[in-house]
Amino acid sequence: MDILDNSNLPDISAFSFIPTDEPARQSYYMALLKKTFEERQNLIGRPLTYAVITFGCQMNAHDSEKLEGILSLTGLTASDEDTADIVIYNTCTVRENANQKLYGHLGQLKAKKKKNQEMIIGLCGCMMQQPDIVDYIRDKFKFVDIVFGTFNVFMLAELLCRRYSDGKQVIEVLKEPIKNFENNLPEKRKYPFKTGINIMYGCNNFCTYCIVPHVRGRERSRIPEDIIEEAERFAKDDVTEVMLLGQNVNSYGVNYMEDSEMIKNNPDYDFPDLLRDVCKVDGIRRVRFMTSHPKDLSDKLIEVIRDNPKVCRHIHLPIQAGSNRILKLMNRKYTKEDYLLLVDKIKKELPDVSLTTDIMVGFPGETEEDFLETVDVVDKVGYDQVFTFIYSRRSGTPAAEWEQVPEDVVKERFNRLLKKVSERAAERVGRFKNTINEVLVEDVDSHDENMVTGRMSNNTIVHFKGCKDLIGKYVNVKLTEEKGFYYIGEMV
Ligand code: SAH
Ligand code: SF4
Ligand code: F3S
Repeated sequence: MDILDNSNLPDISAFSFIPTDEPARQSYYMALLKKTFEERQNLIGRPLTYAVITFGCQMNAHDSEKLEGILSLTGLTASDEDTADIVIYNTCTVRENANQKLYGHLGQLKAKKKKNQEMIIGLCGCMMQQPDIVDYIRDKFKFVDIVFGTFNVFMLAELLCRRYSDGKQVIEVLKEPIKNFENNLPEKRKYPFKTGINIMYGCNNFCTYCIVPHVRGRERSRIPEDIIEEAERFAKDDVTEVMLLGQNVNSYGVNYMEDSEMIKNNPDYDFPDLLRDVCKVDGIRRVRFMTSHPKDLSDKLIEVIRDNPKVCRHIHLPIQAGSNRILKLMNRKYTKEDYLLLVDKIKKELPDVSLTTDIMVGFPGETEEDFLETVDVVDKVGYDQVFTFIYSRRSGTPAAEWEQVPEDVVKERFNRLLKKVSERAAERVGRFKNTINEVLVEDVDSHDENMVTGRMSNNTIVHFKGCKDLIGKYVNVKLTEEKGFYYIGEMV
């Protein structure tokens, strides 16, 4: 059994023993789980439902698509957090408020679980890679049924089978990946027409504030063959937009997970090459990528974007802070001047690009002067969107041990930054007013059912009159009204 998809899950009777090797082992457990679910549904006389709740970034969301793939392949019906029997929280731990959010949700589920005997609660994701958190959950949330981590998403069916077989809490968090099982997992996409493709896992950068390298492990790249094949498979399944995912896509190529003919023939193969190759896949109309670390965004990448209209006109380029002193303390490995030079180069080669960024306020030791350097960058660059965060102390990271900036000072700076960001973004986004742009329609507008919502190549959101039949289609829209971060338009 190589590749599993929604059509070829074997019957459990096809197995005479439990396979020890993957992916056959998970095929066995998925088949067993399917049978278990069937029996329970017959017993209670209604379908069992599931919900996977994503708390984190695109990578986390992509893992959720795999979890949903497993649950739907084994016969469950999708539902929502309020009504589902099987609820899985895919957690994030990048900031402390992400952790608090989980505990809030768990508190509410406890009462529900008392009323619903079929309820199973699962926790996974980055937060579970921290042993102290797992201990806390074992201790304080005994009603949680299964706990697993970022390296064993592929084991969901096995863990559920274990839970059903003895009724005990199952905790299994791997410390590192055993192998790349990405190619062998079913997947249920949030949008049928677009999805993410992991090109690499982990991070080697160790920015001093960041927990990600501690919970996602060292950088490992998938071989290009696998990535391109996955893009081809998606394209055959009506996907037209893919997003290549990694914590720092520009360093793609470090530590390949398997032997690769392509790499043997071209040892210098890098992210721009990969981007170009994914663009060649028939049926793929748009390629995005996330995230680019400014320290190694190459001229070659800018050229590949420029020469390939399929690459979306959007670069997310997190700066984090504008002060060179703070950037150094953060271990970001670029200066404000390097960054601004890079922005100039990008704007010159890609005049229609939109730039977005992440900024943190209140990093340990940040002074008013340091902060003003950050505001200055926002002024100079003219971002289309800025994701602003208050620095959050993550235990185990170096910056957590350093002297912290008082909360009231941080809050005041944060508000000042927000004001600057929204002024500048509104000016910047407005530049496309009255132009006609291709929009990929994603959804019916959540506020008005006569409107739909879509995205331009540069990631700007557009709302316009239309019906649900347009979802997944590319249409030309004239941008008539500019609303800060988005546009109202008319289909032409
Ligand atoms: N790999 C990406 C970032 C992933 S985390 C990069 O290097 O750009 C997403 C964002 O969360 C970061 O860009 C940063 O702005 C923010 N972040 C990370 N750790 C944080 C912390 N401890 N406190 C507040 N924000 C943090
Ligand atoms: Fe975190 Fe830095 Fe790695 Fe991004 S590059 S995930 S901010 S350590
Ligand atoms: Fe959060 Fe993990 Fe992503 S910590 S931001 S879900 S990599």
